[in-house]
Amino acid sequence: APPEGVYAPVETSSGPKVPLRSKKWFNDLEDPGMTSIYLERYMNFGLTLPELQEEKRPVIGIAQTGSDLSPCNRHHIELAKRVRDGIIAAGGTPLEFPCHPIQETGKRPTASLDRNLSYLSLVEVLYGYPLDGVVLLTGCDKTTPAMLMAAATMNIPALCLNVGPMLNGYSTDGKRLMGSGSVAWDSRAQYVTGKITAQEFVHNMALSAPSVGHCNTMGTASTMNALAEALGMALPGSAAIPAAYRERGACAYQTGRRIVDMVRQDLKPSEILTKEAFENAIACNTAIGGSTNAPIHLCAIAKHMGVELSTADWERVGYELPVIVNVKPAGAWLCEEYYRAGGLPSVIAELLENGKLPHPNALTCTGKSVSDNCKGEFSLDRRVIMPFDKPLKSHGGFLNLHGNLFDSAIMKTSVISDKFRKQWLENPEDPMAFEGAVVVFDGPEDYTRRINKMTTIDARTILIMRGAGPQGYPGAAEVVNMLPPAELIKQGLELPCIGDGRQSGTCGTPAILNASPEAASGGMLGYLRDGDVVRVDLNKRTANVMLTDEQIAERKVQVGSYQENKMPKNQTPWQEIFRDSVSELSDGMVLKQATKYQRIAQT
Ligand code: FES
Ligand code: MG
Repeated sequence: APPEGVYAPVETSSGPKVPLRSKKWFNDLEDPGMTSIYLERYMNFGLTLPELQEEKRPVIGIAQTGSDLSPCNRHHIELAKRVRDGIIAAGGTPLEFPCHPIQETGKRPTASLDRNLSYLSLVEVLYGYPLDGVVLLTGCDKTTPAMLMAAATMNIPALCLNVGPMLNGYSTDGKRLMGSGSVAWDSRAQYVTGKITAQEFVHNMALSAPSVGHCNTMGTASTMNALAEALGMALPGSAAIPAAYRERGACAYQTGRRIVDMVRQDLKPSEILTKEAFENAIACNTAIGGSTNAPIHLCAIAKHMGVELSTADWERVGYELPVIVNVKPAGAWLCEEYYRAGGLPSVIAELLENGKLPHPNALTCTGKSVSDNCKGEFSLDRRVIMPFDKPLKSHGGFLNLHGNLFDSAIMKTSVISDKFRKQWLENPEDPMAFEGAVVVFDGPEDYTRRINKMTTIDARTILIMRGAGPQGYPGAAEVVNMLPPAELIKQGLELPCIGDGRQSGTCGTPAILNASPEAASGGMLGYLRDGDVVRVDLNKRTANVMLTDEQIAERKVQVGSYQENKMPKNQTPWQEIFRDSVSELSDGMVLKQATKYQRIAQT
């Protein structure tokens, strides 16, 4: 475990640097009428006047994302009590409020559709109520970026507290680690080839979720919380603590204490979420073997903070670095071992020692630099957090591809298996390129309906998933990682996948995904036909369909626009609003209108 001192708050005895905004509600001498109206209702459950009115007492929001509908974050209902204790101990007044629930695996049509809804509603709450700072209770995949995006737009002092990963899951004989999400991909392959029954499938899934907390693999949840910490927006060492450990409760208390001091010091997101911080986070994402959802979410947070960040930055900063965290899906262990090996501070210590953290002096929530926080916190278990010079994978970052198929799509090279390499890349002349005829699917339902009936798919087929981007399948579906037909799986074959949707962070498929522009907004994937030949050259970072510009122009005339009848209809008002206003995955899938509202607490 990281030493207590790593996340001990910096005490400040002095009062706030700037007048507290909550006092405009609770202690406005110029308008006693309104002040009394604001006060009376907050007193109706027992708060006293000094708790609301004292000039030096910050009012701190606790943005509660846990509920029965958000089981990954549900343990926050308990943790929030320790956050409150910390806030009160440091001389603040806590006000807890509920956030729109987001649950990754249970929300239809996608959980990512609701990231922007949760963002919008949190901005409105932070703006409209008497809050001087906020603790953001994060965890399940989209909850973390939604909270950080809102904190960026609002720009009041904010600090993340992760709910923490679940404990290890084990197979019934206790021999195999069962990691959340990753188990699903393995079990699905076993199920379609008849090796396990539907009942065993369910049983395996349950084994992988043995306690409260979020996914215990390095999926999107563990990734985004590690990156919140890497950005400087969560206490050092906090992200990896398992949900059920006592240290998690202690960390909640420390988070409550620290946010009060951050308000007193007026330490706002704009001072922490700089370009330097984002580059540090990109480096950390490679080192931990992080999720392909991270570029989308970090881009969104940056957009709301007014920081320029592109998918090209991801390759520039992150591609060459090694993966040193040996946790599923890229590696062998789960987050419990990762925590006991030291968590993110040990990863950062390793990067610092090798001169590979881009900006050691970036400011963090502790009021100190990332280097001050993490230097020398070396791994306590080199099997899990490995030495920089003996890494799990040497180039672990994302490639940023482009060509006539799309302007940007990313590929996580660290999960390319030896099997895939042999089958697709073994060509001495051109070792990192491959080519094949495509088979095209319009969304996940089309894929599921047809995949096992198709006779046109063989060992050299490239699978295309389109209509799965932010507009096509509202929120962008995690479906680009497609399994080949059962017959080919039995032969041990893997097929490359390309698509305008996303893939789960717990998944180990080397897909080319997040393609932007998506088919639904006029991208070339929408004009592909079965049998077209696509060539991918990873050295040149290109992906092209082998058609001339003239043939492409002709095709576009023949096809018209990507047909709306191939996409699911809007089922709710929010889906329509979202589709009308959302940007491409390479632009963070943000609401276009929202990005012009910046730092609104200061306006
Ligand atoms: Fe919620 Fe993985 S499904 S954290
Ligand atoms: Mg996911």
